[in-house]
Amino acid sequence: PKQTWFEVCELYQWQGSWYFAPHLEAMFTAQLLFEARDDDIIIATLPKTGTTWLKSLIPYIVEGSKYEDDDDDPFLKDSPQFVVKTLEINVFRGNQNPDLSMQDCLLSLARNPKDVFVSSWHFMNKVMRPMESPYPIEKAFESFCNGVQIFGPYFDHVLKYWNESLKVREKILFLKYEEMKRNPKGEVEKLASFIGRPFANNVEIENVLQKSSFERLKNLDVNKTGFVRHGGPPNSSFFRLGTIGDWKNYFTPDMQERLDHIATLKLEGSGLDLDI
Ligand code: A3P
Repeated sequence: PKQTWFEVCELYQWQGSWYFAPHLEAMFTAQLLFEARDDDIIIATLPKTGTTWLKSLIPYIVEGSKYEDDDDDPFLKDSPQFVVKTLEINVFRGNQNPDLSMQDCLLSLARNPKDVFVSSWHFMNKVMRPMESPYPIEKAFESFCNGVQIFGPYFDHVLKYWNESLKVREKILFLKYEEMKRNPKGEVEKLASFIGRPFANNVEIENVLQKSSFERLKNLDVNKTGFVRHGGPPNSSFFRLGTIGDWKNYFTPDMQERLDHIATLKLEGSGLDLDI
């Protein structure tokens, strides 16, 4: 099945999720050819949940102090250790270098779906419809509620990783954007320990927090090659507000009620709290 999304691109459904055609191709290739190694870290996220933040954190944690100069920053240099870079799956590889030894694991990140929706509405308008008026938010919301969204449906995606993380706690870390915002130090320490690279001291933690901060990444020279996506949208489009609760500026009471209702039905019995 096919859907037109934001009136500018086509989404294809495969195994219950929605994809752009080039991502389908990348995913088929990855599924055929990708062989996981013992020191791979896999990041699996929905767009607009904070993928860019998580992707910046891994290289800084693993080898952060090596990059004191912005020009050498792995964020701008398209860290070669990201060996698979599709939108939904990013694989960071230690290349069996003992200095970079990490535990093989999977990280997932969730965010309040209301903020995910608002963030993706802005992103799509800016990147896919730069010359046109914004796509009506009501129509975009209708698609989101029907599960038509890149890599969505949102709840199915998030619940899949949440449920797996409960089964294999030592291998899958399930993070939440809101918790990372509220307690960055604690969450980044948790992340570092989980991937097998615990911090030695406070200075290391502060260094990583500063390097991965929204303000710093947003202001890095975006004209350089961004690791976010070669030939894709500029890095700047991945940094908008970086806050919790912007949805309140866009949601009508009806929208709120509808998404709350869907969330209640979908999350029932899962034990997952999405800060909705
Ligand atoms: P907003 O549009 O709400 O500001 P993704 O990388 O998955 O596409 O997600 C992008 C969202 O994460 C955007 O949300 C962006 O501003 C926010 N973001 C990016 N880097 C961040 C950082 N270092 N800290 C906090 N939020 C960040």
